[in-house]
Amino acid sequence: MGKIAWGITGAGHFLKESLALIETLDNVDLFISRAGMEVLRMYSLKSPAGAVYDKSASTAACRQFASGMYDVFVIAPATSNSVAKFVHGISDSMITTLFAQSGKSRVPIIVLPSDTEEMVDTMGATKPLKIHPRPIDLENVERLKKFPGVKVALTPEDLAAALKKI
Ligand SMILES: Cc1cc2nc3c(=O)[nH]c(=O)nc-3n(C[C@H](O)[C@H](O)[C@H](O)COP(=O)(O)O)c2cc1C
Repeated sequence: MGKIAWGITGAGHFLKESLALIETLDNVDLFISRAGMEVLRMYSLKSPAGAVYDKSASTAACRQFASGMYDVFVIAPATSNSVAKFVHGISDSMITTLFAQSGKSRVPIIVLPSDTEEMVDTMGATKPLKIHPRPIDLENVERLKKFPGVKVALTPEDLAAALKKI
């Protein structure tokens, strides 16, 4: 398997499953959004050692993506906020800039969105929750599926299977 860049956004849904998957891999560089850092703390989870948390306006790490350091960029879990920015071409934060740069540098992308069904049973930070993603959230996932070079994984199992092909 090639070198993986992995972005974690501020989604509680699929967070534990994503961290469990990362633990099975030894070739991952982690990039965590500001909200991702906060949500990890709320779930009493530690951010894995060596993770990049870049508050700069330009995202220095995007140079490594442009120079071919990574074989795939995974964003898991991906919030509805990040997915909305991805599909509208907005790159105003570390993860959204890395998504845009990966597209421009032809680095394959795999996204595991948190909001893919009309009703999501999830474990909140302190108790189980029912979440009802809005039509706009579901539409944005559909738009993302049509992006060239992007694979949308609907479950952590889908993501694990997609990674085996890298
Ligand atoms: C405990 C907690 C859990 C959250 N889980 C989700 C989630 O599963 N999906 C989602 O779209 N937003 C979730 N959010 C809201 C996002 O963190 C928020 O929209 C944030 O601005 C996303 O920023 P990012 O996309 O840059 O990481 C959660 C917030 C909190 C406090």
